[in-house]
Amino acid sequence: MKKVLRIFIIAVLVLFVVAQFFQPEKNRIEMDDDHLFKQADVPENMQTLLTNACLDCHSNQTNYLWYHYVSPVSWVINNHIVEGKEHLNLSEWGQMDVFDKIGTLDEMIEEVEKGEMPLKEYVLLHPKAKLDEAEVEVLRNWTEKLSEELIANAE
Ligand code: HEC
Repeated sequence: MKKVLRIFIIAVLVLFVVAQFFQPEKNRIEMDDDHLFKQADVPENMQTLLTNACLDCHSNQTNYLWYHYVSPVSWVINNHIVEGKEHLNLSEWGQMDVFDKIGTLDEMIEEVEKGEMPLKEYVLLHPKAKLDEAEVEVLRNWTEKLSEELIANAE
């Protein structure tokens, strides 16, 4: 029995080591001109808030931490990023039309107010991503202001 257990543990360790050679492509494309920060007037405090809480999954630039390089964590993280970007990619802000932008801003604050975003498991490991009431208020004011500007400029 002991021998079986030993073989099992060795097999798991070997698998773990081999898995390290299989890594997803990293989400680290250079920030291009379509990025929200280059397309819209985003004050510094908002840039910090979005970078800390949203952009790891909703842009082409993820700030990876050391354990994000370890399989299978790297695959779980990659799933979040791929899925997050499918729904919302703020690196492609410049490619959206006015209606998409206004709709997106609305959805962003809605998801945060419902407590759906940022994802809970992300907040557990990224304390800076936790938004308190004051920060949610700042986010709401900014989304409303930018929406109004977009409407005014469209007329
Ligand atoms: C850890 C990754 C992650 C972080 C961080 C994150 N999101 Fe998401 N987001 C996702 C994923 C995955 C989805 C798609 C699945 C879902 O809705 O749960 C998504 C979906 C969304 C959607 C679309 C919802 C829909 O119904 O189509 C919006 C809007 C959104 N996120 C906004 C935000 C905002 C704003 C922040 C920051 C405050 C944020 N997210 C932080 C991963 C993330």
